[in-house]
Amino acid sequence: MINSENARPLAGQVAIVTGATRGIGRAIALRLAAEGVAICIAGRNAERGTAVVAEVEKAGGRAIATVLDVVDYEATQRVVGETRQRLGRLDIAIANAGIGTIGPVAESDPGDWRAMMDVNFFGTAHLARAVLPAMLAEGRGTIMAIASSAATTGYPEWAGYCASKWAVAGFMDCLGREMVGRNIRISTVNPGSVDTPFWDDLNQDLARSGTAARTSMMSAEDVAEIVALHLRLPQTVVVKHALAFPTNEWH
Ligand SMILES: NC(=O)c1ccc[n+]([C@@H]2O[C@H](COP(=O)([O-])OP(=O)(O)OC[C@H]3O[C@@H](n4cnc5c(N)ncnc54)[C@H](OP(=O)(O)O)[C@@H]3O)[C@@H](O)[C@H]2O)c1
Repeated sequence: MINSENARPLAGQVAIVTGATRGIGRAIALRLAAEGVAICIAGRNAERGTAVVAEVEKAGGRAIATVLDVVDYEATQRVVGETRQRLGRLDIAIANAGIGTIGPVAESDPGDWRAMMDVNFFGTAHLARAVLPAMLAEGRGTIMAIASSAATTGYPEWAGYCASKWAVAGFMDCLGREMVGRNIRISTVNPGSVDTPFWDDLNQDLARSGTAARTSMMSAEDVAEIVALHLRLPQTVVVKHALAFPTNEWH
């Protein structure tokens, strides 16, 4: 029987989403807010963060925005504390912030590899480390990483990006095993191509806005739906990883 409580099983929970100022993170924030989850929108761009809060509130949801560079562990700890203080609790942590720079290995700048490790891998590990002690004390919680299909295979000219995402996958796998018996869900979502500004900022002209390559991608809302589907499952069920891509791709 559907009643209002089991129709919105996440209502009243609190989530922090990194990189929620645009793209996939923004879509996740809006989707979870529609489920009745209060959201902390974390990212570097204060103006865009405030705009996403306004969108959430316009749709009847609750959100706060806070400036965070996920490379900074102490700042991540502060934002986790601020979320608990301002929104009252913390049930869900989604490490979504990410960057990409591509090119042949023989021509790549090692600084770009380091930057991707810093944001994509350390950003994820920082968030997990910052939220875990309280989640362990409470005996419940969900930590989710938005990695990539690039965490499951290799693509030519994406070596640094893939390496950073494989690092995320390895970290989350170890953490999941560590959490057995602790009632903390550890989950990774691995999307294929998604229509976001990521592709406009990419250093190569692969799928700029308005091109056919871009319009054949999944939408950010599709990824948000996968996230919501998982989170809506009972706390007794975990989706270890979800690899999802447009119907006309294969990864
Ligand atoms: N688009 C795709 O095809 C695709 C496919 C698979 C996986 N992914 C992954 O999905 C995630 C979201 O990507 P997207 O496509 O939505 O990219 P996007 O549109 O470029 O958005 C990236 C988000 O990450 C934030 N961010 C970047 N560096 C940050 C930092 N140091 N600290 C805090 N926030 C930071 C940005 O916000 P600020 O600028 O405000 O900091 C922005 O909100 C990434 O991890 C990406 O690797 C994307």
